[in-house]
Amino acid sequence: MPETVAERLRSKAGADAPKLIRVLSGETIWPPPIWLMRQAGRYLPEYRALRAKAGGFLDLCYTPELATEVTLQPIRRFDLDAAILFSDILVVPHALGQEVRFVEGEGPRLDPLQDRAAFSRLKDAIDLDFLGPVYETVSRVRAELAKSKALIGFCGAPYTVATYMVGGRGGEEQAPARLMAYRDPDGFQDLIDRLVDASAAHLVAQLKAGADAVQIFDSWSGDLPPKEFARWSTDPIARLCGKVRDEVPGAKIIAFARGAGSKLADFAGVVPADGFGLATSEDLYAARSAVYSCRALQGSVDPIALVAGGEALDRAVDGVLQALGRNPLILNLGHGVRQETPPEHVAQLVARVRAE
Ligand code: CP3
Repeated sequence: MPETVAERLRSKAGADAPKLIRVLSGETIWPPPIWLMRQAGRYLPEYRALRAKAGGFLDLCYTPELATEVTLQPIRRFDLDAAILFSDILVVPHALGQEVRFVEGEGPRLDPLQDRAAFSRLKDAIDLDFLGPVYETVSRVRAELAKSKALIGFCGAPYTVATYMVGGRGGEEQAPARLMAYRDPDGFQDLIDRLVDASAAHLVAQLKAGADAVQIFDSWSGDLPPKEFARWSTDPIARLCGKVRDEVPGAKIIAFARGAGSKLADFAGVVPADGFGLATSEDLYAARSAVYSCRALQGSVDPIALVAGGEALDRAVDGVLQALGRNPLILNLGHGVRQETPPEHVAQLVARVRAE
């Protein structure tokens, strides 16, 4: 029997659990725990130094010693409440046998799956041995991280990962994947279903290796019309959560459907996650009333206010605390840290939240 939301919330985390886990169990904590999407990355000089040593970005992801170090860098520098595994959502297509490369200054490039026939080039199931170094990184980070801090594992949502697999790259409103979804919905459904299974296995392996919680990133579904959003974002993410909890009962899950907007209420009504990420563009008061008040919300300081710093950043932080602070809140950005962000501004954000 799958757990209900109420059953999960009744089994509260202990007082010695990391703050992030207590908030995901429905507790309101003040000041709220803080972590930032893309908190490890090119805005940090210590990341750039290690990245240069590793060679390519994927080499960094698949070398446990270096990936562990990069995961821990922002925790050491800013004393954040959670670390997020250093990896990428595109390791899942890679472990399904698709070619994946990262082109310097341009981003990811995959060998595009142009139609249903191309799916035969994929493996039937995700190759978890291939991703062994990723799970080893999880274990190493968990062993080195203070017990008071949470380690977050992650995957991309099936729709977002499918947009890269079909298009071969990001951009242009993910038109190639959407076109396939309209022209051959059964074929696209087949790809989504493969990704539900592969992503569930990948999240379960991270939880078993020591991740305390996992986040599902749906970066590109927000653009979809409501019916397509329900079919390609909400339904697969709900099934993914169910499969993860079949293997790891009580697994803590954060679902981030970036830009869900007015679709958030239906999404949160169907997806059995413990927390919901909010994009920069969300109306925080509307989001709070759209989601049952015991379920955590995560967000959503504008990453560009973080670049600006100063008073604008303080106001952005205060706005989030004011709108969401009376309920379970995880303070985060509305999207990832940008490369041009001065690291001192992250320290300013942390100080502002903790001074409140
Ligand atoms: O948040 C973290 O610090 C953990 C690691 C992490 C990365 N990517 C590292 C990364 C996470 C959680 C991701 C998720 C991810 N990757 C998403 C979903 C979140 C989002 O941003 O919407 C997506 C869509 C991807 C795919 C991806 N990876 C793109 C489009 C790019 C190129 C853009 C860019 O910033 O270069 C990447 C590369 C990438 N992933 C980098 C990092 C640190 C930069 C790599 C480098 O050092 O050159």
